[in-house]
Amino acid sequence: MESKKTVRVLKSAGEMQAAAEKLRHERKKIAVVPTMGYLHRGHASLIERAGSLADIVIVTVFVNPAQFAPNEDYARYPRDFEHDKAIIQAAGADIIFYPDVKEMYPDGFGSYVEVEKVTKILEGKFRPEHFKGVTTVVAKLLNITKPHAAVFGQKDAQQAFVIQKMIKDLNFDVQIILAPIVREEDGLAMSSRNSYLNEAERKNALVLFRSLQYAEKQIRQGEKSVELLREEMMKIILSGNPTQVDYTAFIDPVDFSETDNLNQSEILVALAVRFGTTRLIDNIIIPINS
Ligand code: PAF
Repeated sequence: MESKKTVRVLKSAGEMQAAAEKLRHERKKIAVVPTMGYLHRGHASLIERAGSLADIVIVTVFVNPAQFAPNEDYARYPRDFEHDKAIIQAAGADIIFYPDVKEMYPDGFGSYVEVEKVTKILEGKFRPEHFKGVTTVVAKLLNITKPHAAVFGQKDAQQAFVIQKMIKDLNFDVQIILAPIVREEDGLAMSSRNSYLNEAERKNALVLFRSLQYAEKQIRQGEKSVELLREEMMKIILSGNPTQVDYTAFIDPVDFSETDNLNQSEILVALAVRFGTTRLIDNIIIPINS
């Protein structure tokens, strides 16, 4: 349903903090949805989820330079604030926090938040500084928006785990909610980076979900060999003519460690694959029948 509320846009951290403080004083429950903008239906579902949990929903829109390596797509990351604003308004949020880079990283900025170990595998292997940038900006956004709850998407499964670890280790007083992946009708996980794909790459990228569905079907039918599953998944992925397969990983969701044991209660299967110059990630959580 289209929202009738007019969303407020705040650009300064001080203004945002003062507004959040006032709302807390009025005993309003605040939920935040951190984003890098270029929003799609997946983000709208996060905003709606936040709305079901809180009186006030804040959406942050900030393309965070600290989480991109110099060779990555920071400069060309898609940006369209008016489009984002319309989606945020329609999804029923109350406030957009839309700072510029100087506001978040003023001259002399020099403090970072870093989660150890789990940030070194999978995404961390290919993007060594990425999670340090994510945890730093998320810590800042939580301090600025003062939420009771924060909603993140399960599509960035490792990011979600890393953020939860930071929250626990550093005693942030905020509830983290994970919302399920939203897919296009043909199964492609929604992502702002899908806009980079040309027609052929977009079609080829469907092998990601297909390979995850394959793993799900086999595991549900009792397959216990990760080696075999990975081999068959690779065949499916390679049929989509990728430029590079960064990883196909089987992860124990409890501690986010790589495993070849399919006897625990569930397994997370995660992928990172490049089509042309576009790097896509996807994952699925599969319950295991023992
Ligand atoms: O998932 C994202 O969009 C970003 O990594 C986040 C959490 C907004 C931090 O910049």
